[in-house]
Amino acid sequence: MLRERARRPEERLRRLRRTEALRELLRETKVYPSSLMAPIFVRDGVGVVEAVEAMPGVNRFSVDTVSEYVGRLVEEGVRSVLLFGIPRKKDEAGSQAYAPDGVVARAVRELKSHFDIVVAADVCLCEYTSHGHCGVVQGNGVSNDLTLPLLTKAALCYAEAGADILAPSAAMDRQVMAIRSGMDASSYEDRLVMGYSAKFSSSFYGPFREAARSAPAFGDRKGYQISPANSREAMREIDSEVKEGADIVMVKPALPYLDVISKARARYDLPLAAYSVSGEYSMIKAASANGWLDEKSAAMEVATSIRRAGADIIITYFAEQLAIWLKEGS
Ligand code: PBG
Repeated sequence: MLRERARRPEERLRRLRRTEALRELLRETKVYPSSLMAPIFVRDGVGVVEAVEAMPGVNRFSVDTVSEYVGRLVEEGVRSVLLFGIPRKKDEAGSQAYAPDGVVARAVRELKSHFDIVVAADVCLCEYTSHGHCGVVQGNGVSNDLTLPLLTKAALCYAEAGADILAPSAAMDRQVMAIRSGMDASSYEDRLVMGYSAKFSSSFYGPFREAARSAPAFGDRKGYQISPANSREAMREIDSEVKEGADIVMVKPALPYLDVISKARARYDLPLAAYSVSGEYSMIKAASANGWLDEKSAAMEVATSIRRAGADIIITYFAEQLAIWLKEGS
């Protein structure tokens, strides 16, 4: 009898997985439509819904057609969007980024007047500059400090239009501080700044650059974005944007950097966003179009993994589809 009690029971973990109801009860990580943020490309023109070839299912919308898409998102429970603008004219200084009647400012006004949603605006120059770099080009590089006032100016335009979140993605030092101070000085102290704090220099941005027509005309972004090899440096970037006053910090891309998400989750108490970027979307789309992956289960698995790693917010081109699948159940 005594010997019996001393024996360790056999470990039988499959008990936990026997029925669907048990599996649901014991599920550790869930994805909710309300934690998804949908990136949206807004362009000039009227009546435009233009497919992005490298991202099947993703479109560029003109300001008048974007509401229909956002209406569908809201219907499915996705209540936050991240806007990227594609102007008609690009120039050296990216001036359409901070034109008061630019596409993003107009889209923000349109969306805020129709929906009770969170509108975030990407703040960067690369979609607006003729050379495709994220800031002001000086010599063969990008000048950090000449870029900051332009980012601030753009952020103020979007705030003025009603944006809830300003999201600088230019990977410039002190970009969060510049925008925070600019906003506070113009009585937009109630708007949030979401720093693309740990933004890696990634090949997974390829399809986005087709969508935004923003590939750099010369060189690359390695002089300002973090090397994929460096996770300690990523923590220093997050640390500095936290000190600069970020309300939300981000790791981008998501899937190849789950370790960075998990490390950031353990270190910081701020809301943490993870951006599952264009290449992550397109690779699942391409493989499933070939019959090599099941799109729904692959996309759900990736989203679940990003949450499991510790992200609160998932920025993903699958937002609408994920929300529909979540409603359907697995
Ligand atoms: C830069 C920016 C990029 C993305 C978001 N903001 C591209 C880049 O650094 O070239 C990429 C997003 C994606 O790939 O989905 N403004």
